[in-house]
Amino acid sequence: MRVVIGAAAGALLCALALGAPTRAAEPGAERAAAADAGAPAAEFPRVAMREILGVIAFALPRSLDPARFGASEKRAETLDLLRVLARDAEQIEGHGAERGEGFRHLSRQLAADAREVARRYEEGRYDESGFLLQRLTENCLACHSRLYSDRDSPLGRSMVEQMELEGLSSAERARLQAATRQFEAALETWEALFQSPDVSPAQMDVMGWLADYLTVCVRVRGDEQRALETLRRIQARDDVADWLKRDLAAWIRALESLRAPEGGTEPDGSALARARKLIQQAEKLREVPADHTGLVHDLVASSLLYRYTESRPRQGRDVAEAYYWLGVAESRIDRSYWLSQADLYLETAIRMAPAEPFAADALALLRQRTTEGYTGSAGTHVPADVQAKLDELQALVAASR
Ligand code: HEC
Repeated sequence: MRVVIGAAAGALLCALALGAPTRAAEPGAERAAAADAGAPAAEFPRVAMREILGVIAFALPRSLDPARFGASEKRAETLDLLRVLARDAEQIEGHGAERGEGFRHLSRQLAADAREVARRYEEGRYDESGFLLQRLTENCLACHSRLYSDRDSPLGRSMVEQMELEGLSSAERARLQAATRQFEAALETWEALFQSPDVSPAQMDVMGWLADYLTVCVRVRGDEQRALETLRRIQARDDVADWLKRDLAAWIRALESLRAPEGGTEPDGSALARARKLIQQAEKLREVPADHTGLVHDLVASSLLYRYTESRPRQGRDVAEAYYWLGVAESRIDRSYWLSQADLYLETAIRMAPAEPFAADALALLRQRTTEGYTGSAGTHVPADVQAKLDELQALVAASR
């Protein structure tokens, strides 16, 4: 599959790659080589990923300032690049089928968001386009942080090093580093941030930085020791809020005893049972529904479950159950409503095995999350299409009883 890149955008992407130590940054050549060598389908996302990275490196820093983002002398090139981004995201979406529901959902979301970034830019809504572009990096991190990896992307580093990052805070920088698969650099940025006296531990937690850090440490790196040392340093500070003390103590205890699955190993048949047990233990730790004491348990369990579902993308009762537990775990780990990974996993479990008891549990949780998500000061307003989907799932469960 070959994509023809507009001449202006192609030239810009090549110019961006100048100074980068690897020729892999040159999209046309890379893609042609991959196509000619009959590269396996699994390799394909990388080619598109590299191109996406080039666009992000160019557009993200500019997007922080809408006037600059929409500046007339760069407008045509920027629009070309954003269209490349949308097209690449669609290419990745086309490769989701063999990788399981998580990949499929996140790649679909990436493609939809990328189209929206380009559309709003074209309509001159530069601030909205820029906001969506920045939010796009959440999607990158969500997808990359599902599975173990001990390899960082040197390309990601060289690109991001060339970006103009003055506008970014440390937390945003860490997120960008993780989004571009420079996991080591991201962990170091977070660790430096956590030592800053200007940032309170409560802020680290509420902003989701601790959860992101622990996700990368546990799921991507399988490095509980590193997470443990970081949390102990935070625990030793004298400005830890009371409610956070309990969470920190629980996470530290969990990290002392739990081990994420060995790097790169295929999950065996016991992975599902182990994950189920961890999530049930996490449940017991919680005193109120919204507390996060079970976070480390949920992370280790989800690490097992992602590998399990990714290595067994076919249908089946156990795979359906794995998606159910993944939905439960992600509903507590991931606090962003717009990516709604948890909802997708719950829905998948129901559709795969509507007669199983866990399908009814999945439906109940999905209802609760939907109500919460659409409740504000003006009451609860569930959009008609969302309600229709819930009703359909309800009918599916009822019919298979
Ligand atoms: C749907 C899943 C998914 C999403 C969303 C996603 N990626 Fe990726 N990305 C992958 C996979 C799979 C790889 C290959 C990982 C490997 O090397 O094992 C990858 C690799 C990469 C690499 C390494 C390329 C190389 O060869 O060094 C970079 C950089 C990258 N992605 C950037 C991004 C950025 C930036 C975004 C968001 C705009 C993003 N990705 C969104 C799945 C995703």
